[in-house]
Formats: sequence, structure tokens, C-alpha cells
Amino acid sequence: MNAPQHGKFKDLVDPERGTLNRKLMADEEVYRLEQERVFARCWLFIGHESQIPDPRDFVSTYMGENPILLCRNDEGEIRAFLNMCTHRGNRVNRLDKGNARTFMCSYHGWTFDTNGALVGLPMAECYGDMDRSKWGLVSVAQLDVYKGLIFATFDPEAPSLKEYLGDAAWYLDMILDRREGGTEVVGPHRWSADANWKSAAENFGGDGYHIAASHGSGRKVGIDTTTSYTRGVGKGWHMHAGNGHVINAWAQSEDVKEGPWFAQPVPEIGDYMRENGAEIEERLGHARSHLFSPTGGTIFPNMSIHWLTYTIRVWHPRGPNKMEIWSWSIFDKAAPPKIKEIALDASLYRFSPAGVFEQDDMDNWAQVSSIASSVIAQRQPANYQTNIDLEIREHPEIPGLLGSIWSDSNQLDFHWQLACHLDAENWNEVNAQPSWNDLTRKRSTVNES
Ligand code: FES
Ligand code: FE
Repeated sequence: MNAPQHGKFKDLVDPERGTLNRKLMADEEVYRLEQERVFARCWLFIGHESQIPDPRDFVSTYMGENPILLCRNDEGEIRAFLNMCTHRGNRVNRLDKGNARTFMCSYHGWTFDTNGALVGLPMAECYGDMDRSKWGLVSVAQLDVYKGLIFATFDPEAPSLKEYLGDAAWYLDMILDRREGGTEVVGPHRWSADANWKSAAENFGGDGYHIAASHGSGRKVGIDTTTSYTRGVGKGWHMHAGNGHVINAWAQSEDVKEGPWFAQPVPEIGDYMRENGAEIEERLGHARSHLFSPTGGTIFPNMSIHWLTYTIRVWHPRGPNKMEIWSWSIFDKAAPPKIKEIALDASLYRFSPAGVFEQDDMDNWAQVSSIASSVIAQRQPANYQTNIDLEIREHPEIPGLLGSIWSDSNQLDFHWQLACHLDAENWNEVNAQPSWNDLTRKRSTVNES
């Protein structure tokens, strides 16, 4: 590994030694700067197209702490605005979802259309020649859709969504593009946890290590996120897709010749995948049909996915020690209703406010986050040294870099990317810093994990 660069926040992460200063998890300054340099800069997931199928449909959501009105205009084009009336700043839309031609602020009655234009101004004659076009809703700077997932950024200088997702899109396809017609979602389920958002993002992004200790009781009663066979074989990868996007996956063992559905924890879904194996393989190709099965992953900064339990979620920051969790179940639109029902039950049973695994995780994240604010705790760095000496390699059929699933490489990648953003004034400065992948160029071909 090449020596990392220094910086106020990069110095809190040591990717060579495998340590993290706990300040990153608890510090008020870090939290405030994240709002500016991460959440007002990066592309963030704001909803799924199936939540707003028709013209004038809308939902409320968030980008970081910023309330967002996501809607379709009269022509069906997707728009996203800060959910704030430009007059005094009342929340212009109070509903979670609906269909509306206009949004009238409940305070003084300013009214905006689905393109954000100020179209209603009570006592307009009192405003002289005020230029109404300057007082429309504040739009996001860029909005784009990747196979049903709607993303937006408030930074006009941000790279395109395609560039931002980079190799991560290839992995996302394994949940988004298995079948003709794409996906649909149910949700969101919303709840809050007394934990820093990064404790969840890093966990979904790479923490296979916690499963035995945290979720052993669930597994004892027969609830799991993969098959016991897959876990018994224990082969897998950390996948570094670039830009801080990190994914973990179970790798196929030699004696299993079935597709990535070898790891499906729900037998009916495994059967469904096998029945549609030819279509899936045609769409996704050999590697994504035979070599590995993604489990969890994080799209930097705060969207996570669990491929094997059909869950996508956002960890919305609400303070150094608080987050809102918004979670959707996602499945193939083309699946039979019975299979969709089974997938939904399987998803909610594992990851939801009452989910068997969610309960275990939230408690651990809350403890980690609250203790991190202790002065004495901050003198003792957090340990991220699991197998970090193992070689990180390339694979001829898989994009990005691969480490071992039993390592902390993904978590270090995520925190390094965060620190790079915190140290940078703008995208140019972000791009000028060495990414985790840049730091870890030990190129060779993976034959075996
Ligand atoms: Fe919205 Fe006054 S705050 S109309
Ligand atoms: Fe967990």
C-alpha cells in the first residue's frame, strides 16, 4: 500500500495500520462538516420510480437533513426540490405522498406548481414588479435515474451519476436488472435509532465478522441471511467499486454449480431464481450468474442494500448520535404475486423496525456511537485490523478490487472516502486525493479467495 496523504480528517483514518479515531463517529464538527461536504455534495438516493408512477405523483424524503419534495411534473418528468416555501421557509408540502397539481404553503398561501414555479401569490399587487421566477422552489442541482433508483445532488459540479456510481452500477444490476421490467418497491418503513449513520453504513458495507456474535440467536431459531451451507463454506470477497462504494459477497464454492441463488436464504426465492435462471444469466452474464452472490453493500455515503433479503435503505443523519432509517423492500416487477409476498415477508422479518437482525444491529450501533463521544474513548483508536494484510486483487471478470470478506478493507475504504470529502473544499479537491483503490494497487489475478 502506498503511503496515504495527510489531512485534518484523513489523519483520523489510518488505512495502513487499520485504525480509526472515534471522533469520526461522535464529533459535532465532523457531523456539521458532513452536512456540507458529503450530503450537499454527493449523489444521494431519494426514491424509486415505482413510488411516483404517474404525472403529479409526489413523495416526501430527505437529502441529509434537507427535506425534499420529490415529484413528477405534468409531463411525467421527475423533479426534486427543497421542501421549503421560499417566502418565510415553511414546509411547503406536509404529506408523505400523494398526487397534486400544485403545492400551497399553509402559512401565507404561496403556491408552487410541479416544476417548482411560484404560480400563486396572495395579494400579488402588494409585491410591485417582483420577479416571480426568482422565487420558485429550490431545485436540486442534478437529478438522474439508474434503473429505477432516483438520485440527486445539490452540487452542480458533481460528476454525472454514471461516473459517480462507476463500477457499483454493475453490482446494483444484480438486484435491479435480473428480469425484464426492472423492480418495484414497498415502503418506506421509517424509524429512528440513537446511533451515528456511519455505524450502519460501514456495517452493511463490509461487516461479515459481526454476524456470528450479533445474530447467532436468530440463526439458532432458523432465521438467516444466507444458507447455512454458504456460511459453512465461508468463502467470499470484499469488493471495492471505487468512490467509497463497498460491497460484500459470498463466492461460489467448487461443488456448487447453481447460480448466485446458491446463497438465497428463502427456498421459494431460490426456486424462483432457478426457474428464471436463463433470463437472469442472459441479462447479467457469467460472473454475476455463477461466481458470487452479493450480500450487503453501501453506496457512498448513506444508501445500503442487502441483496439476499431484498432490502434497500437510507441512513439519514440526524445528529452525531441519531439517524432516521428509511427502508424499502425491493423485488422484480415481473415476479408472480405469491413470490413478491414471500420476498416482502422475508425482507421485513429480517430487516425492518421489528426485524430479527435489525434489532440486534441497532443496539450495537447505539452503544458504539454513544461511547465514541467519551474523551477517554477517543484516546483509544478503534480497531479495523481484520486481515488487512491480505492482498487486494483484481479479477478478470469482476470490476473494482477484491479483498477478503473476512477483513476490514471495505470499512477502511468507506471511512477513507469520507475523510477525503471532509478534507476537500470541492469536487476538484476530492478527485485530487488518492482514493482507497489508488492506495491499494497490488495488481494480480484472483484465482481463489
Ligand atoms: Fe410560505 Fe409564507 S411561509 S407563504
Ligand atoms: Fe447485522
